[in-house]
Amino acid sequence: MKVIGNTSLAENTAKWLGADYYPVLERTFADGELCPRFETSGNVTLGQTAAIVMQQHRGENINAYLMDYFLVLNAAKDAGFAKIYACMPYFAYSRQHKQYLPNQPVSALTVARTLENLGADAFVTVTAHEPSSLPELFTIPSINLSATSTLCDYVSKKPEFSDAVIVAPDDGAEEMAKTFAGLLGGRKYTCFEKKRDVRTGEITMTPKNVELLKGKSAIIIDDMVSGGGTMVETARACSHHGSTRIASLFTHPILCGNALEKLKACCDEIIATNTIESEVSKADASPLLAQALAKLEKK
Ligand code: R5P
Repeated sequence: MKVIGNTSLAENTAKWLGADYYPVLERTFADGELCPRFETSGNVTLGQTAAIVMQQHRGENINAYLMDYFLVLNAAKDAGFAKIYACMPYFAYSRQHKQYLPNQPVSALTVARTLENLGADAFVTVTAHEPSSLPELFTIPSINLSATSTLCDYVSKKPEFSDAVIVAPDDGAEEMAKTFAGLLGGRKYTCFEKKRDVRTGEITMTPKNVELLKGKSAIIIDDMVSGGGTMVETARACSHHGSTRIASLFTHPILCGNALEKLKACCDEIIATNTIESEVSKADASPLLAQALAKLEKK
């Protein structure tokens, strides 16, 4: 297998696999048109597999990222790879995996169809926003990897959080919090109730089981932090109800605008994975990706 990618996440995935790494070199025309090109160490030979591990950088426009991804996938197909695994560490546009209001697109389906039409033979992602939607979105095999144990390894080494209660900001994160609580040896967890207005995006948070929080540290766990509203509101509620220290753990550090600054103001620790490159991408997802890609190749 060859790994085509744009950052150290792809390079490390290749190392774990013992595979060649083909870096993507970027060129952008003045009007924003992208012209990526991957460098090989020799010609693509018959029957070879490529895994495309393209990673979004914090602050990068998601639309440019997706277009870049599509172009690289197209180039890999044209180069003659027999099989292509599209590995998108953060599944861009996955929040819109269904229609919330009439006449909206199911954007995740548009991304899935495009990947398939361009020649992807399998799709691999980490902590999909709604994992159960993947089989409905893709006709090719789709794999959702959980980063919970990757994040858990990191925080389990921090004694200041040895008494922590695990907090899910909404029911979407409850499963993650439950698994996390189990991995940390049976910690207590609670799931807040979050409502987001589908038209304005405004969040209202209703904390639950707040008696658990008093005098204990809290680990808030979520799939992603984008604008930061969810995490900040949850952290504030935890402090208000007596949490002594707060760690914010999430898989995807999208961290738009001043989200990171807002988080720093209310959390003692901020830990994310490197599915997106950022200064808080402390937990490495490359072993997870390598394992999944190796499994696919064995099938
Ligand atoms: C929502 O359901 C997700 O799991 C996240 O909680 C949400 O997308 C985070 O967005 P923001 O950081 O903008 O509140």
